[in-house]
Amino acid sequence: MELLEPADGFQHPRFEHGCSPKADANGSELKAGNTVIAATERASCSLDNYLVLPDHTMDDRIAEARRELGRDCVVLGHHYQRDEVIKFADYTGDSYKLSQLSAQADGRYIVFCGVHFMAESADILARPDQNVILPDLNAGCSMADMAEIGQVEGCWEQLEGMGITALGRGITPLTYMNSTAAIKAFCGERGGLVCTSSNAGAAFRWSFAKSDKILFLPDQHLGRNTAFALGIPLSEMVVWDPYMLNGGTTPERLRAAKVILWKGHCSVHQRFLPEHVDNVRAKYPGIRVIVHPECRWEVCQKADALGSTERLIKIVDAAPAGTMFAVGTEIHLVNRMGKRFAAQGKKVITLDDSGCLCTTMFRISPQHLAWALENLVDGNVVNRIRVAEDVKYWARVALDRMLEVPAA
Ligand code: 13P
Ligand code: SF4
Repeated sequence: MELLEPADGFQHPRFEHGCSPKADANGSELKAGNTVIAATERASCSLDNYLVLPDHTMDDRIAEARRELGRDCVVLGHHYQRDEVIKFADYTGDSYKLSQLSAQADGRYIVFCGVHFMAESADILARPDQNVILPDLNAGCSMADMAEIGQVEGCWEQLEGMGITALGRGITPLTYMNSTAAIKAFCGERGGLVCTSSNAGAAFRWSFAKSDKILFLPDQHLGRNTAFALGIPLSEMVVWDPYMLNGGTTPERLRAAKVILWKGHCSVHQRFLPEHVDNVRAKYPGIRVIVHPECRWEVCQKADALGSTERLIKIVDAAPAGTMFAVGTEIHLVNRMGKRFAAQGKKVITLDDSGCLCTTMFRISPQHLAWALENLVDGNVVNRIRVAEDVKYWARVALDRMLEVPAA
C-alpha cells in the first residue's frame, strides 16, 4: 500500500478558516436516493468561501487539517483523481483495493476522494461509528446512473415471467461495483455478488459454479470482455435494453444466452476505438497497448493486456526499461504514469490523443477537500454518505462475497 506523507521539513501553519460553529440540527434529514444527508451537514462552514480561492492556496490548509485530525481521519484516493488532490491521499488504489482499505480503516473519518458509488460501498463496509465523506456530492458516475433499481427489478420480473430464472440451475445477478447500493442489495438478496474489474473473471467463475446464467449489471463492456475471456462466445451473450419492450430481445435468445448484459457503458472508456489501437501501432512499432476492460470488446481484442487501474500501473512497473505503452484509460492516471515511469526509462502515452477525462472524478477539487477536512477539524461532518439501513444489509452481503473472491 502506498502511504503518501507531506514532504520533509513541511511547516504546518495555523489557519483561521472562518467556519461557523456547529450547526443546530433541527432533527430533519434530506434523502438523495439511498443516501441520507443529515441536517447538521447543511449549516457548516460554507463551501463558497473556498471555491473562490486558487488551488495552490489549499495545500497548506489541507496538510494542516490532516495533521490536526491525525489518525482519526484516513484519506482514500482513486487513481483517477487529479494530482492536486491525490497527493494528499494516505492510500491510493483501484475500487477493489479501496474497498478493502475501507473495511480495514481505523479512524472515525474516511474521506473518499473518488465517486459516489465508491463512497457508498465504503459506508456499507465501514463500522457503524465511522463517517464516510465524499468531498463533492456531485461526483457521481454516469455508468452507475444507467441502471436504476426499478428498471433492474422490472427486468428480473420479466425474466421470471418468461421462465428464464427457473431454467436449469437458475441465474445469478452480478453487478459491477459501479452501481448504486440498491442494486448491490438486489444482487446480494438473490444469491449474487459485486465485482470490480480486478476480480470480474473470478466472480463469473463463482457464479457459474452455482448457476447456468449470469445477469451482468450495468457495464456491457466489462461483462462481454470478461465472459469472452472465459471462453463464452459472443453468440451466447445477449444485451438487455431497459428502455425497450422485453429488453429489446426475445425469450428464445434469453433462454439460449449464458450471459445477459445490461445495456450500460462508461462514456469515458467507450470513446476509445479500435482504430486508435491501429494508429499507435503504426506510429510506434513495438508499442504495448494496455486498456481498462470498460473499453469496447473490439478495442480489448486488439490490446496486449487488460486491467483495472491498479493492474495497469503494475504492468508498466514490471516492464523492462525502454518499453513504450499506450494506455486506454482516464487521462489523469495516464499522465501520472507518464511522469512516474519516465524516471525508469519507460514511455507512457494515451491511446487517444484527444484525451479521456472523467468529469465526475474531476469534481473533487483541492477546495472541496480542504472544506471537508477543515469542517471535520471544527467538528462538522459535511457530505456524509450514509446508506439507508434497509439497503445496507444485503448490499453488505454482496460486497462481502466480492471481497472473498480474490483480485487478479
Ligand atoms: P478500477 O476499479 O479499475 O479502479 O475502475 C474504476 C472505474 O470506475 C473505472 O472507470
Ligand atoms: Fe464512472 Fe467511467 Fe468515470 Fe469510471 S471513468 S467513474 S465508470 S464515468
